[in-house]
Amino acid sequence: MAKSKTKFVCQNCGASFTKWAGLCESCGEWNTLVEQIVEETSAKSALSKGQFSGKKLDYVSIKTIAPSDAKERLKTNFKDLDDVLGGGFLLGSVSLLAGQPGIGKSTLLMQICAEISKTKKVLYISGEESAGQVKLRASRLGADSETLAFASSTSGNDIAKTIESGEFDFVVVDSIQTLSMDEISSAPGTVSQVTNCGNLIIRAAKSTDTAVVIVGHVTKEGTLAGPKVLEHLVDVVLNFEGDRYGGFKTVRAIKNRFGSTTEVSIFEMNEKGLKEVQNPSAALLAERQNTDGSIILATLEGTRPILVEIQALVTPTNFGYPKRTASGFDLNRLNLLIAVIERRTKLKLSDKDIFVNVVGGLKIQDSAADLAVCLAIASAVAGRKLSEDYVVFGEVGLGGEVRSAFRPDQRIAEAKKLGFTHAIAPATIKNKFVIPVKDLRQTLINYVK
Ligand code: TYD
Ligand code: MG
Repeated sequence: MAKSKTKFVCQNCGASFTKWAGLCESCGEWNTLVEQIVEETSAKSALSKGQFSGKKLDYVSIKTIAPSDAKERLKTNFKDLDDVLGGGFLLGSVSLLAGQPGIGKSTLLMQICAEISKTKKVLYISGEESAGQVKLRASRLGADSETLAFASSTSGNDIAKTIESGEFDFVVVDSIQTLSMDEISSAPGTVSQVTNCGNLIIRAAKSTDTAVVIVGHVTKEGTLAGPKVLEHLVDVVLNFEGDRYGGFKTVRAIKNRFGSTTEVSIFEMNEKGLKEVQNPSAALLAERQNTDGSIILATLEGTRPILVEIQALVTPTNFGYPKRTASGFDLNRLNLLIAVIERRTKLKLSDKDIFVNVVGGLKIQDSAADLAVCLAIASAVAGRKLSEDYVVFGEVGLGGEVRSAFRPDQRIAEAKKLGFTHAIAPATIKNKFVIPVKDLRQTLINYVK
């Protein structure tokens, strides 16, 4: 018998190679190449002869097509999450909910199932937990509807067939990494299993107008392991982020074929499951002590303004190499800002360890956080506070200049609402509330004292 051909496929990005290597050349991840059998196709030889199958497409005028969001939307009972989805889960859509293990994906989906099952037929399929485990969670969350069904399965084929039966309006598949297809020999969680099971499920959902949510686990770095390839296939990709232990958790859409990707919903976990946080700014500032190194940033999560405390701690370096740590803030950005501070102001930081923390578990992606981080570091180095009635926002350029920020009016409105009197912000903003600043050096001299 001829030896069957194999190739090595990266489980992170899907690139394939003829030889094994420790590092994927395509995406730079380590230890992600897995050997897989190549399924021989006749496509190559047919193509080389210039023959191929197919027929001319039927086309219609775009005017006559019914829009796909004319279908019903299933509300989740979480107002902000519905906004993230663009009004709820659309019938016939497939969504991927991605997050680290233990963040609360199963909890959130069970709560959503409980709500939707009040009016629709819902099926929760788990390949990870037994019926007893799921029941335990369900009863804690108050999900005990007659129309909420449960099945335990790891077979992609069975799950697709069940969806295809059209018996259910809303189906949750927890999780894609546990599924396998009979026709494929590789292990669950590999790229070929994930793509093929995903495709089967998507086809079944589309053909019966079932809304399906697929759970996917992500690695610590925040990339979808395996399901990266699934991102292209599904209609909506929801990212569940935050601290596993306490703090705020956010759900945002990084892709949405039926809505915008600017909204975000903020959750908190308690003994009765996940709850949406109504006034995140107030909750985040409740425990604040105005010490040196503490700055209030007026930031945006999606389109929503939030006030959050940025803390910096600066200590002398004991060994030659200074240490820089950031939690909730991009470390590369922090290193860049430290370089800007050193070069553009008189502060010396090369012999200091610097730790920056965003309070409350939020991950700040807003470029207008720069100025607040710089002020927090400067305030910690100098041992001086900023007035406690000030909020800060603005981007810092490499020249040390303070640059404009998106949606300043919303940031200012939120700061006013919480009783702040001024914002240290880019000089381009014309508002009485704003203390206009143009460059970092002058800002430090004038306000950190
Ligand atoms: P889980 O939803 O199982 O996470 P995932 O499916 O993303 O892996 O649960 C996450 C954690 O939440 C778990 O460690 C226990 C905790 N939890 C609560 O604090 N309260 C609750 O009501 C529930 C159901 C879970
Ligand atoms: Mg789970």
